[in-house]
Amino acid sequence: MNSQKLANSRFLQSKRSCLLAFIVLVLILAIIIPPAVVVPLRKKSMGPKSKVFVPLYVYPAPGAWAPLENVRGAEHCRVATHPSVNFTVVVNPGNGPGPDALPDANYTREIPRLASYNNVRLLGYVPVNYTNRDIGLVRRDIETYAKWPVNGSSPDLAVQGIFFDETPQEYDDRAFGYLQELRDLVKGSSGLGPDNYVFQNPGVVSDTRYLSTADSTVVFEATYDTFQERRKAKVFKTLSEDDREQLCAVIHSVPDSIQGSKLRSLVKKARKVAEEVYVTHLRVDYYAGFGHSWGDFVDLMAA
Ligand SMILES: *[C@@H]1O[C@H](CO)[C@@H](O)[C@H](O)[C@H]1NC(C)=O
Ligand SMILES: *[C@@H]1O[C@H](CO)[C@@H](O)[C@H](O)[C@H]1NC(C)=O
Ligand SMILES: *[C@@H]1O[C@H](CO)[C@@H](O)[C@H](O)[C@H]1NC(C)=O
Ligand SMILES: *[C@@H]1O[C@H](CO)[C@@H](O)[C@H](O)[C@H]1NC(C)=O
Repeated sequence: MNSQKLANSRFLQSKRSCLLAFIVLVLILAIIIPPAVVVPLRKKSMGPKSKVFVPLYVYPAPGAWAPLENVRGAEHCRVATHPSVNFTVVVNPGNGPGPDALPDANYTREIPRLASYNNVRLLGYVPVNYTNRDIGLVRRDIETYAKWPVNGSSPDLAVQGIFFDETPQEYDDRAFGYLQELRDLVKGSSGLGPDNYVFQNPGVVSDTRYLSTADSTVVFEATYDTFQERRKAKVFKTLSEDDREQLCAVIHSVPDSIQGSKLRSLVKKARKVAEEVYVTHLRVDYYAGFGHSWGDFVDLMAA
């Protein structure tokens, strides 16, 4: 055995013992690391896909709506390259469409930009004060939105449905009739096409008979803490699985500590409840801006 061969065989031996040591190490690790620690490292399914719901009560000063457009421009959201994330965006020029036939020039500049994306559905905000608001005034708001494209001579200056805020929780026939009438008005308005989408916001799980007067209903609008309480109390379990595609959940005041895998888990839970979801860390004026984790939230919605 010359010295070269000797060196080679020593090398092989040390390689073998290295391999052996490695196998032993892996076995020890497999035993001492509980499976629960290993599991989150694997990419788990996020469950059913939901749309990103955005109460965009942000004044469109130049650039103010950019976070929305920019995230849409991100690779995962681009319609052509990926199964898209769809966005439902509520615009609110003045606690409704505002007193004039058209909103101001910042709105008439920004709304057509958003409307030009085919994964964005725009809705016009209309408050109904738990059906106490004079229905004539509500009708006028709906008609004002419906006339935007004609009055502004721009087919893209348009919303594709109405978001009725403050709808009731308890059933009564009069309120049901009021909401049915509004739904029929939206469905029949040519200026609110092609979707003529009707959204209602009781903000809580309301009498399920009301689900029939809207395409989608916000069954949760409150803080992160309240969301956890209602989940523990199994409030969402009172809804049938078939209802999910007609539901929306809005969770605000998420603590700053809820990031990464905790945010992922929250978004997953919300997606399980509802077809449309909004999650924000903002705790004051929560719809007047985009929280610091807006981009992470949209990424999780795309996952
Ligand atoms: C648009 O927004 C800017 C910034 O807030 C404001 O200075 C300007 O007056 C607005 N334009 C109109 C037409 O309201
Ligand atoms: C997004 O909307 C389009 C058009 O309505 C629809 O075909 C598609 O399935 C939606 N995708 C998701 C992920 O909701
Ligand atoms: C909502 O309706 C109630 C009951 O009619 C009324 O007292 C209240 O002033 C209304 N609120 C608004 C903002 O109009
Ligand atoms: C837009 O609305 C204003 C105010 O109601 C009206 O004076 C104007 O004629 C309308 N323009 C069009 C093109 O409908």
